[in-house]
Amino acid sequence: MSSQSSRSVYLDHAATTPMRPEAIAAMTEELARLGNPSSLHTAGRRARRVVEESREQLAEVFSARPSEVIFTSGGTEADNLAVKGLYWARRDGSRRRVLTSAAEHHAVLDSVRWLAEIQDAEAVWLGVDADGGVRPETLRAAISQGPELTALVSVMWANNEVGTIQPVSELAAVAHEYGIPFHTDAVQAAAQLPVDFAASGADALTVTGHKLGGPVGVGALILARGTEPIPVLHGGGQERDIRSGTLDTPAIRAFAVAAAVCAQNLQDEAKRLTALRDDLVRQVLAVVPDAVLNGPPTGDRRLPGNAHFSFPGCDGDALLMLLDANGIACSTGSACTAGVAEPSHVLLAMGADDVRARGSLRFSLGHTSCQGDVDALAAVIGEVVDRARRAAAR
Ligand SMILES: Cc1ncc(COP(=O)(O)O)c(C=O)c1O
Repeated sequence: MSSQSSRSVYLDHAATTPMRPEAIAAMTEELARLGNPSSLHTAGRRARRVVEESREQLAEVFSARPSEVIFTSGGTEADNLAVKGLYWARRDGSRRRVLTSAAEHHAVLDSVRWLAEIQDAEAVWLGVDADGGVRPETLRAAISQGPELTALVSVMWANNEVGTIQPVSELAAVAHEYGIPFHTDAVQAAAQLPVDFAASGADALTVTGHKLGGPVGVGALILARGTEPIPVLHGGGQERDIRSGTLDTPAIRAFAVAAAVCAQNLQDEAKRLTALRDDLVRQVLAVVPDAVLNGPPTGDRRLPGNAHFSFPGCDGDALLMLLDANGIACSTGSACTAGVAEPSHVLLAMGADDVRARGSLRFSLGHTSCQGDVDALAAVIGEVVDRARRAAAR
C-alpha cells in the first residue's frame, strides 16, 4: 500500500462536488459587477435582471413557477425555513405535530427537535425500513393517529448517507388526503435525479447549489402557491418577505448555471454514475467479501452515485484516515458531536447496531468521477480494511 498515491481521488461528492467550469465563469464575471438587486438605479436593475433570469432558469430545471423559487443561503436554511416556518404558520390550538423520518438530514432533524424542545411542537418520528425507506403506509398510520393534530410532514427525496430514494409523490399524496402540507429535502436528489416539483406534489422543496456544481452558500426553498411559511429571518423584506437579506447575485447566477448544466445530460450522467457505482460495489465486495452494502440494493431505489458500506471489525474513522493517507477522500457515516464520534442516526434507524454503524464509510460519485477513481479505491481497500481490523483488535 502506498503511503500517498500520486493522484488524489475524490469520492465525497455528496459532501460537496467541484464547481462546474460554466458556474465558475458566470460567478467570476458577476463578482466583478456592481449592484444590489433591490436598488432602483441602473446597476441595481441590472443585478435584479440577473436574479430574475436565474430564478426562471431554476424554475425550469425543477418544473416550478419562477415565483415559487425563494433564494436562501443553502440547504440548511431552506430546511429550517420549511420546517419552522410551516410549523409556525400551521400551529393552531392542538395542531402541534410534526411528522418526519428518523433518517433525515440534521437540518430537518434538529429543526424538528428544536421545535419540540424549545417550542410547543410534538415530534413524531416515522420509522424507516431496513433499506432506509419510508413506506406510505407508515406515514398513513402516523397521520391517522390525529390528522387534525398534524401541522406538517417532512420526508427527504433521497438520503444523504445511504442513498435511499423515497416514494415522494406517494408520501405527498397521503399527506394531502388529510390536507397536511408536505416538505421534501431534495438536496441530494437534485444533482442526480429528475426533480419535478409540480409532479412531486410537494408543497415545499429544498435544493442547494454546492451539491450540483454551483457554489457553497446559496440554495432555494421552492414553495407552491399558497404555501406561506412564517419567516425565520426578518429584515428588508426580500423574496416576498419570506426570506429577508440582500440577494447574492453572483452565487445565484452560478447556482442557476450549474443546475441548468446538470439538467442537460441528467439521464446519461445517471447511467454513467450507476455503472461506475455498481462496479465500485462489485470491486469492494470482491476484495472485502464480508463488507455489507447499506441501503437499497443497487437499483433504481438508490441514488446513482452512492455506495455505503459497513466493514465488520473496523472503526470508520480509522478507515477514513487510512484511505486519506492513500489519497482517497470519502466520508464516515458518523457525526462528531462535542469531539465524540456518534454512530450514524440513519443506520441506527435502519436497525443497524452501534458497532456496525461505527464501522461504516460512504463513497459518493459525481460529475468528475471516473473509472480510475474506482480502480484506485479497489487497489487499496483490502489492505486498509486489514490494517483497520488489526488496529481495532489491539
Ligand atoms: C440531504 C441534505 N440536506 C441538507 C443539506 C445542507 O445543505 P447546505 O450544505 O447547503 O446547508 C445537506 C448537505 O450535506 C444534505 O445532504
